Amino acid sequence: MALGLPDLVDDDLLLRPPCLADVPDIARICRDPDIERFTRVPSPYTEDDARQFVELAAAALADGSGAHLLVVDRRDDRVLGAVGLSIDDRDWSGELGYWVAPDARRRQVATRASRLLLRFGFGELELGYVMLWAAAVNAGSNGVARALGFTHEGTSREAMLDGPTGDRSAPRGDANLWGLRPDELT
Ligand SMILES: CC(C)(COP(=O)(O)OP(=O)(O)OC[C@H]1O[C@@H](n2cnc3c(N)ncnc32)[C@H](O)[C@@H]1OP(=O)(O)O)[C@@H](O)C(=O)NCCC(=O)NCCS
Repeated sequence: MALGLPDLVDDDLLLRPPCLADVPDIARICRDPDIERFTRVPSPYTEDDARQFVELAAAALADGSGAHLLVVDRRDDRVLGAVGLSIDDRDWSGELGYWVAPDARRRQVATRASRLLLRFGFGELELGYVMLWAAAVNAGSNGVARALGFTHEGTSREAMLDGPTGDRSAPRGDANLWGLRPDELT
């Protein structure tokens, strides 16, 4: 069933679906080495990849399998990052993911945007649990998880490639599993 999105806004940030006009910004930001290293975006990231992301995000909203949204500045619609909640309808749980443009980092963009999306996930959607995987060496992502009230539930040894998506020559690294239940969101 299609996901109806409420207004997801705070004082400075707005979450909205990506559109084709965002393709150049998405492609530029996703070529950042840390995004290529710590997320599963294709590498090297092209404008075709960004177009596919726009289509995938629209399809996921339409079939109810997830909300993959851009985080933009409310004043001028500048793209600051992205936050996504994939929904597993077998367990009625979700998986959170995010990236933030290098020049917008350390301003709580990931934390605040995730909080808005998680309130929607636990509130309107009534999800029972949300998980987040972060490379153990990814101080930023583990910091965001902690700031949102997630509990570190375990570490999967050598679960991830520590490098661009699909680069089998990259070293392997540990992955932290973080979990959040509805009453734990801070
Ligand atoms: C991880 C990432 C999304 C964080 O985005 P952000 O908007 O800068 O994060 P926030 O400002 O909300 O940070 C919240 C807290 O996390 C911690 N944190 C964030 N970045 C950090 C870093 N580089 N080093 C250490 N701690 C960090 C801090 O405790 C921070 O709070 P503070 O700034 O008050 O100290 C961003 O660095 C990024 O896009 N990285 C590359 C992609 C990625 O790793 N995505 C996640 C994959 S699991």
